[in-house]
Amino acid sequence: MRADSAFLAGVLLSTCPAARCMVISVPSSAPPDSADVDPALVSLSIEFFAFPDYVTQLAGTANCIANLAALRGTSPAVRIGGTTQDRATYDASLAVAVNYTVGSPADAPDTLTYGPAFFELADQLEGDVTLGLNRQLNNQTNSLEAAQRAAQTMSNLFAIELGNEPDCTLYASNSPIVPEGMSWDPDTDAASEEAWFAAFAPMLGNIFQGAVYISWTVEDLLSRIGSGISNVKTVSRHSYPQSACGGASTNLEALMSHSGIVSYTSQFETEASATRAAGKPYLFGETNSATCGGGGISPTFGAALWIVDYVLQGALVGAERLYFHQGTISNCAYCFWGNGTVFSPYYGAVFVSRFLGDDGDRIAMLDNGTSAIGAYAAYAASDELLRVLVTNSNYFNGTGTRDNTTISITGLSTSRNGGVHLLRFTAPAATSEVDQGAAVTIGGGGAFNPTDCTPSGTQTMETVAIVEGVAKVTLRASEAAIVVL
Ligand SMILES: *[C@@H]1O[C@H](CO)[C@@H](O)[C@H](O)[C@H]1NC(C)=O
Ligand SMILES: *[C@@H]1O[C@H](CO)[C@@H](O)[C@H](O)[C@H]1NC(C)=O
Ligand SMILES: *[C@@H]1O[C@H](CO)[C@@H](O)[C@H](O)[C@H]1NC(C)=O
Ligand SMILES: *[C@@H]1O[C@H](CO)[C@@H](O)[C@H](O)[C@H]1NC(C)=O
Ligand SMILES: *[C@@H]1O[C@H](CO)[C@@H](O)[C@H](O)[C@H]1NC(C)=O
Ligand SMILES: *[C@@H]1O[C@H](CO)[C@@H](O)[C@H](O)[C@H]1NC(C)=O
Repeated sequence: MRADSAFLAGVLLSTCPAARCMVISVPSSAPPDSADVDPALVSLSIEFFAFPDYVTQLAGTANCIANLAALRGTSPAVRIGGTTQDRATYDASLAVAVNYTVGSPADAPDTLTYGPAFFELADQLEGDVTLGLNRQLNNQTNSLEAAQRAAQTMSNLFAIELGNEPDCTLYASNSPIVPEGMSWDPDTDAASEEAWFAAFAPMLGNIFQGAVYISWTVEDLLSRIGSGISNVKTVSRHSYPQSACGGASTNLEALMSHSGIVSYTSQFETEASATRAAGKPYLFGETNSATCGGGGISPTFGAALWIVDYVLQGALVGAERLYFHQGTISNCAYCFWGNGTVFSPYYGAVFVSRFLGDDGDRIAMLDNGTSAIGAYAAYAASDELLRVLVTNSNYFNGTGTRDNTTISITGLSTSRNGGVHLLRFTAPAATSEVDQGAAVTIGGGGAFNPTDCTPSGTQTMETVAIVEGVAKVTLRASEAAIVVL
């Protein structure tokens, strides 16, 4: 079998230079190194203070979530949290969901209060909800009061976080929780998480999301928390491949590079295994492309292609869910949608959800991760091969020649005489921004209405012939496609 496919690859490549051609062999049932796919693999993180406005002020929120739910058969999970969870104080008598003042609508508040109505809004979400509460202000009574009210109100409450990125400079010497004259390190944080979970668990159960680290490894917590692990429900890592903080420069070509994504996500394989060994789900509990405003690369079609590839690699390294962060409305480069806008990255979330479908149970990577071409297969729970996704991450900036690569997909059933259908995901360039009027499309015309995120346009499938079990798909630089079997 192996010799046959190597021989076939040789024949196919003999007529085409290596740079322009690639052969991908598709196993007819899920191979041993395939990964399980959670129905809420593509999930959302919404910044704490902005959450009420997302669900009450933005027409897009409900439909953008519903579109993803329709494709996967399960609503995305939502984590409500972020930097401002650690600035928030619960006020049981507050008549509104949240109260704060900011100098400009683009700012996040330095301090805020929230009330019981906050949890009533959270309860309306369809999917699992993880709620991020405050630890940094060191008022256990206040966060416990909030957690108990949340547990009474929210039938969808999945997990509770106590503190956000304590490993970051956020837990600095002026933080009430940091003892006078001391700094915060893995020992102090693990002891603190353990003590807070133990204090809350008798009233709330073992419902805590541990770690919530962005720079330390989650093993820093797992190796120190001891029997406190019994209070932990899930373990969260925050992941941003790039940063635009402090004037750091970003690079779209590097972000979307298939081999770059494979290499970046591989760093999490060890902690994912350690988390699984501890019997807990491992999550990318907050993630997106580039921190601190996104450096101009985040609202692009290239970032949408990054999402497609990154979600699948995330699953392959053992992340059960990736919660894509949605920040301050009107000041959020990587957001999926905003006020009267649906951004390019959302199209990537939709496209990868279309690939996984409501029947995709396992995925396998079909290439070796060293080139710009990525290939994946989705399998049903019955092991049946459902779909293949191919991506050409070569960077096209909109000027000059747009190169292309022909991918010969082998191992397909020769009984499919009518050929297979292909759904293409494309745009004029990697730099295209749908909010700037560029045509980012699925199936030639499929798009989303900017005001309310309802689907618009028409998706059309291309037909690709199968000749002796081989389907040839040509992808231009910065383009992806799903082969529907
Ligand atoms: C919000 O906070 C401000 C400042 O503390 C206060 O004046 C106002 O009454 C609060 N609003 C509500 C609805 O409680
Ligand atoms: C902590 O929270 C409780 C309950 O919400 C409140 O009564 C108390 O004043 C707070 N303590 C501090 C030091 O802010
Ligand atoms: C949305 O935009 C409209 C029009 O510019 C503005 O009045 C409204 O305050 C914005 N809403 C939010 C939640 O930013
Ligand atoms: C990975 O795949 C590429 C392209 O198919 C091939 O040129 C390369 O030799 C492979 N590398 C390894 C380590 O197998
Ligand atoms: C786009 O790519 C072309 C060809 O690779 C290069 O010459 C040009 O400088 C690039 N333009 C921008 C704006 O990066
Ligand atoms: C692929 O590139 C070749 C060589 O530049 C070109 O002749 C062909 O038209 C391109 N095909 C597509 C679909 O872009």
